[in-house]
Amino acid sequence: MDWGMKNRLSRVFKPNTGKTVMLAVDHGYFQGPTTRLENPRKTITPLVPYADSLMLTRGTLRNCVDAVAEVPIVLRVSGGPSILSELSNEEITTSVKEAVRLNAAGVGMSIFVGAPNEKQTLVNLGHLVNEAEEYGMPVLAITAVGKEMNRDARYLGLACRIAAEYGAHYVKTYYCDKDFEKVVDGCPVPVVIAGGKKISEKEALEMSYNAIQAGAKGVDMGRNIWQSDHPVAMIKAVRAVVHENATAKEALEIFEKESKK
Ligand code: 5RP
Repeated sequence: MDWGMKNRLSRVFKPNTGKTVMLAVDHGYFQGPTTRLENPRKTITPLVPYADSLMLTRGTLRNCVDAVAEVPIVLRVSGGPSILSELSNEEITTSVKEAVRLNAAGVGMSIFVGAPNEKQTLVNLGHLVNEAEEYGMPVLAITAVGKEMNRDARYLGLACRIAAEYGAHYVKTYYCDKDFEKVVDGCPVPVVIAGGKKISEKEALEMSYNAIQAGAKGVDMGRNIWQSDHPVAMIKAVRAVVHENATAKEALEIFEKESKK
């Protein structure tokens, strides 16, 4: 792996723990002004000091994040359909050159295994890896987003492994209660989990804890942080799980204490 690639990865995966708390704020690229992300700047600004990276589109980056912010950027570079149409019909919408210009530490795109446009999104991933490697730019493959997929270890393991085989440098997927360690074991690159729909803070911290215990290298979490009534308290609690080996119970205590401030 070349120096640029390693350097960019180490900006996202903190070298002292090898793990990461990425803040996902890219939802508007197909969902529009999602609840609590209606005004991205308002949502993002208080969380920036606690995020190991922001995962977002170039539009939100340019308009809603100050260029002096020191937080590493993982740029979503795929898109196409909105929530009103077939989600899997994505193409690459932002070039790697643009990601370099924006000083990104990585690029991210979705693949849709088992969906109508599976092949198109996997070929997109192959092409993106080809282009990104010319620039030493790590590629995050985002798996298992979609409607009625059965998100069990078999399906998630299939999607993550395929992403790694195409050359993704790390993979984001959903957590599943049963056999998540098999998903991680079968994927030769780091796995981070998305949070999914908003659940209670207790449940989200338990999920994060279980994922880390099963070998995940962190989270790329959105709604379970910024849809919380206390988003800063929540990201601090998630950080404790990811970087400080806190149990879910200890992290919940952090959340409760911090949410009273
Ligand atoms: C959607 C995404 C989101 O970033 C991802 O779903 C993570 O956010 P959340 O924790 O809210 O699920 O990539 O395509």
